Amino acid sequence: MGDMLQETVEKTAGLIAGAKRIVVFTGAGVSTESGIPDFRSPGGIWSRFDPEEFTIYRFLASAETRLKQWKLLIESGLIVNAKPNRAHLAVAELEHLGKLDCVITQNIDNLHQKAGNSPGKVFELHGTMNFARCLGCFQRYSMEDLFRRTTLNDGAPLCPECDGILKPDVIFFGEQLPEEALRQAVEHSRHCDLLIVVGSSLVVYPAAYMPVYAKEAGAAVAIVNLTVTDFDHQADVVIHGKAGEVMPLILQAVKRNLGVTGGDAA
Ligand code: APR
Repeated sequence: MGDMLQETVEKTAGLIAGAKRIVVFTGAGVSTESGIPDFRSPGGIWSRFDPEEFTIYRFLASAETRLKQWKLLIESGLIVNAKPNRAHLAVAELEHLGKLDCVITQNIDNLHQKAGNSPGKVFELHGTMNFARCLGCFQRYSMEDLFRRTTLNDGAPLCPECDGILKPDVIFFGEQLPEEALRQAVEHSRHCDLLIVVGSSLVVYPAAYMPVYAKEAGAAVAIVNLTVTDFDHQADVVIHGKAGEVMPLILQAVKRNLGVTGGDAA
């Protein structure tokens, strides 16, 4: 491990060891090593699809547009049977070590929960691809059950109960963020003493306000990201690297600081 990396890993681990209320804030970059593309890296989703296609208005406009969006969400890797990677496992281990207040994620892939974080401690600001909801009768279906009964060959899925329009539980552009998740995220960001950003370009609001709220509350902010973000200059420590490599190093250093041996293979 290079000297610079070693120094920033140890500094981050020191912040974690000394903190009492730690928030981890994640974006698509934490899941790329699980095979799910992010949005703004070269080759990312928005280099292959037009975000304009992803507004709620376009979703409601026609069955043809809906099918296109379902296909993207299913086939473009946003709902593959992805597995949590070592970065997700490291965040779950933080919870097991009693060093995590909550995870605030922009991701819809459910990988933090699959990695072992308690669902009640994961606030999904942009919804989840784990469920779909009928816009007619509001019945909610798990995607797993839904795609046991139907395929996209029959067109955009309809509600098995009332034939209404089924919408994935994700937030489309033009939609409000889930009220309770946003309220919780703001509350926890404003009351943490350390917020760790993992794998986000921090360009989409209001999600990207969370590190701002933490900083305003006097918390330290650490950033683990492959590339520079607009918030780097305000962070207390920045590590430019792959989350799946850096996060396990940080957890190893935390466990050394806490005198903990063994544990999850993060
Ligand atoms: N390790 C660390 N960082 C990574 C990795 C990795 N393995 N892979 C990619 N990154 C970084 C990229 O360099 C980029 O800065 O993660 C960041 C991902 O940024 P975006 O693709 O913009 O994703 P995100 O920040 O989650 O976007 C926020 O935008 O389109 C909306 O709703 C969508 O939730 C999404 C929101």
